[in-house]
Amino acid sequence: AMESGVARQPIQNWERYHHELQARIGIDQKLMNRVITQARQNPKTVVFAEADNYKILKAAQTVLEQKLAYPILLGERARIHELIAEFNMELEGCVIIDPREEDAKCEKFAHLLYEKRKRKGLSLYDCRKLVRYRNYFGCMMVETGEADALISGLTRDYSTTIKPALQVIGVEEGVNKVAGMYIMQNKKEPYFFADTTVNLQPTAEELVDIIGLTARYVRFFDREPRVAVLSYSNFGSSSGQVPTKTREATRLAKLRYPDLLIDGEMQANTALNTDLLREHYPFSELANEGANTLVFPGLAAGNIAYKLLQEMGGAEAIGPILMGMRKPVHILQLGSSVREIINMVAIAVVDAQTKTKL
Ligand code: ACO
Repeated sequence: AMESGVARQPIQNWERYHHELQARIGIDQKLMNRVITQARQNPKTVVFAEADNYKILKAAQTVLEQKLAYPILLGERARIHELIAEFNMELEGCVIIDPREEDAKCEKFAHLLYEKRKRKGLSLYDCRKLVRYRNYFGCMMVETGEADALISGLTRDYSTTIKPALQVIGVEEGVNKVAGMYIMQNKKEPYFFADTTVNLQPTAEELVDIIGLTARYVRFFDREPRVAVLSYSNFGSSSGQVPTKTREATRLAKLRYPDLLIDGEMQANTALNTDLLREHYPFSELANEGANTLVFPGLAAGNIAYKLLQEMGGAEAIGPILMGMRKPVHILQLGSSVREIINMVAIAVVDAQTKTKL
């Protein structure tokens, strides 16, 4: 699982790296630079559930060098040492934990898991087996405060990785559904997309929750959300399930979040094109500036949209940022690059700083 040539060279100077990248592809790195600076001010322990993987170790090395986080490497000890030696990595100071060697800890975690899940069909026997899996083990470390955040998901599909997190950690108070956000950065400004990773077919009510959660996370990145609820119709121009649902979600969201700039339902180009908005829909709340936050009617649309842009649109994708978890857990996209992993670590650290303050 090697990345193309560049990954082999250690990134010596993070600011310069970002600067060069910005110059090369013209992407505005301000947002990520701010997150990285903030992460460094109070680095947190981040457990990597898939540390027997080259890209993860490479990312761990960089965040350690850059003093962004204190990595805990979870995985088969011999394999981790083999990779470190093979690629000549500097990972001194990282804690390596092999769940298979941790009998006492596994027993403790099994009992904790059993307490949480005994009325959800799990026996103590099941729990003893489950905590040997690194995603359960890693989530338990975050749950018990042995680590501040978890990064996983590089090598397994998203649903398999998110389930232990939902079962062990769950949602934060006041949140019904977690959802995934991507930040899409092009030359102009960052755009925020949700839900791109979790809820298959949210109802209008669930969309209202997703809108509230997304607005909060956009503010977490120091931007003021301007939300468009997307459909294949503009303000009642077509009928069907999606227009009806998104129109209703917009109506309810305006009531629930009176201070939020939001409108819909509308097509994606309408949301982003202020000329079009002003000419055809001057009554829209978004007519002045257009949207920077796009809420999709369902997972299919959101997931496909961000992946298309990532592959062909010249936009950098940062995410998926898992919103609404009680403690910071972030599930990577299968096959994320080292750079994407590092970005997610920085976000997880700032997420942990914020959550401990609450
Ligand atoms: N928010 C909060 N909690 C949730 C959510 C949610 N969105 N969805 C499920 N849960 C809870 C359930 O209520 C359940 O709680 P409980 O067991 O304590 O009562 C717990 O999580 C576990 O639920 P399960 O029944 O095991 O899982 P479920 O079948 O509900 O599936 C899942 C949840 C895995 C998130 C599912 O909805 C899913 O597969 N989503 C799509 C994931 C995906 O394929 N994404 C696209 C690819 S991602 C990418 O491209 C990067």
